[in-house]
Amino acid sequence: MIKSIRGTKDYLPDSTPIWRFVEDVFRKTSSEYGYGELRFPIFEKTGVFSRSIGEETDIVNKEMYTFYDRSGESITLRPEGTAGLVRSVIENSLHKSSPLMKLWYSGPFFRYERPQKGRLRQFHQYGAECVGSPNPESDAENILLANDIIKRAGLKDYNLILNTLGSDKVRTDYKIDLMKFLDSVKDKLSKDSQRRLETNPLRVLDSKAPEDKEQIEKAPSILDYLDVQSSEHFETVKELISGEIDNLAINPLLVRGLDYYCHTVFEFQSSALGAQDSFGGGGRYDGLFQRLGGKEDLPAVGFALGVERLLLALEKTNQTPKLDDSPDVFVIVTNWDNAGVALKSATAIRRNNYKVVFDLTRKSVKAQFRQAGKSGAKYAIVLGDEELKEGKATVKNMSEGEQSEINLDKIAEFNFGA
Ligand code: HAM
Repeated sequence: MIKSIRGTKDYLPDSTPIWRFVEDVFRKTSSEYGYGELRFPIFEKTGVFSRSIGEETDIVNKEMYTFYDRSGESITLRPEGTAGLVRSVIENSLHKSSPLMKLWYSGPFFRYERPQKGRLRQFHQYGAECVGSPNPESDAENILLANDIIKRAGLKDYNLILNTLGSDKVRTDYKIDLMKFLDSVKDKLSKDSQRRLETNPLRVLDSKAPEDKEQIEKAPSILDYLDVQSSEHFETVKELISGEIDNLAINPLLVRGLDYYCHTVFEFQSSALGAQDSFGGGGRYDGLFQRLGGKEDLPAVGFALGVERLLLALEKTNQTPKLDDSPDVFVIVTNWDNAGVALKSATAIRRNNYKVVFDLTRKSVKAQFRQAGKSGAKYAIVLGDEELKEGKATVKNMSEGEQSEINLDKIAEFNFGA
């Protein structure tokens, strides 16, 4: 048989209730924070990503699913959401009708990475982007939205790592000194970092290689290079969120894997996740609109949470919420000549918003009772031959064992929620 593609997953019915639960949290919390939903394509012209994320990042260099379509156009499956969202805002001139846009999205994303626990080739993100404000309160509100979502999903133990990359000028000055430092320890760095040193020195700070980590600890800190405006922005963001978030740590080495960031950058991490400990991240990206061809530059800040990693962190810490997806009613039929009555009754009750099932494989009464018990249904309705002749049925409360007879034509009015 043809098997699924490595790094993709089938989410089977017993695993999807938790997906619907967190997706409800995404929708509800976004709306409370005044974020509207934007749906944009899962593929774009390749330039949308290479120009935004940066040619010298791992994502663009080695992880994109890029192909030529039948007209010879280079197309890429979205590896992240920010670039496509910015393209969409510019193309639809959203900023002309509203100077401030708060937008969220969720869906599948694609990166050609080596699959392992928490790292897939098709994964899912929820993201939220605030476009149009340069002010630190928009960074803070965006971070608090992420934090509230994580908490509502049920996760308690996690850390928020915060840093600033300052203004363009700050980064240019910092990069000169960082390069000097890295050059002085070049021989001790990994081959990858030696190459990156020439092309994108900030990326070296992101390296997980042990030999790099040892040197990086001694590198100059970007926090010593901040100008007044960058420093004030960072201090205000910290101040605005500090009372709201328990485990907040500043790490001047946090640079993130995408090149569009300036000022605030942040990551949500859980030690329960092992090597892939980051389950969400984001930051400010003030220059991106112009880089993608916007006439005016729009300041913006946003984040994305990896849904699989959030769910994995819940699972690993035994904090997955208990969800009841069992039916309200199981209809049992003693004589399958009455299958039509079962379908009719089930339909009438479903129209009152109850979850109703009955056996479509015509099993014995005993087997149906067993199935009803296993399904966790609160009530069973028994359609007995004799009772049906009188237009009646038996309703049984499955946990209490209590049962009563009701008129079949009144079945839809019965309170199965009790
Ligand atoms: P990112 O850090 O590249 O940021 O991805 C965000 C999250 O997506 C990660 O923290 C992780 O949970 C999840 N993720 C990434 N790659 C994989 C993978 N291969 N398998 C499973 N999960 C994965 C961004 O994508 C930015 N667009 C975030 C952002 C929004 N910045 C500003 N606005």
